Amino acid sequence: MDGIESLEKDHDRIRSLFSELEGTADPHELQDSFDKLGNLLTIHAEAEEQVLYPEARNCEGTAELIDKGQYEHDKGDQMVLAIKSISANESEFKAKVRELQEFMLNHLDEEENDLFPRVRQCMSDNKLDKLGNQLRETKANVAPKVVD
Ligand SMILES: [Fe+2]
Repeated sequence: MDGIESLEKDHDRIRSLFSELEGTADPHELQDSFDKLGNLLTIHAEAEEQVLYPEARNCEGTAELIDKGQYEHDKGDQMVLAIKSISANESEFKAKVRELQEFMLNHLDEEENDLFPRVRQCMSDNKLDKLGNQLRETKANVAPKVVD
């Protein structure tokens, strides 16, 4: 799996966790899926920021997309943090998750439609494979540091 494929796979997992959250009203299930989502978002965003974004800056026409992506990761982090302080029993929990969903799904689509095709076009297959290895390494390093 090359680097872009692995990031797209993360995106699909993020989308499916949002679907799980949409499909339940059970507070335990909500909390469980949200915890998984929060961890995945953190690990995924770190890998993109540490590996993808610096490499992608060398590709033409990516600077603005990366700046926007970075801003959206930061905003997403803040939204996740805010939800962590709300009990899954409260109706506000689902409302805030829905806001996060709308925001993040838009971010994922933008990356897939605008940034990833540019990176794919500018990097060789070999380079994309290397990117995949670097992303895997970074995720493995970050994962143990992610605390609920
Ligand atoms: Fe992403």
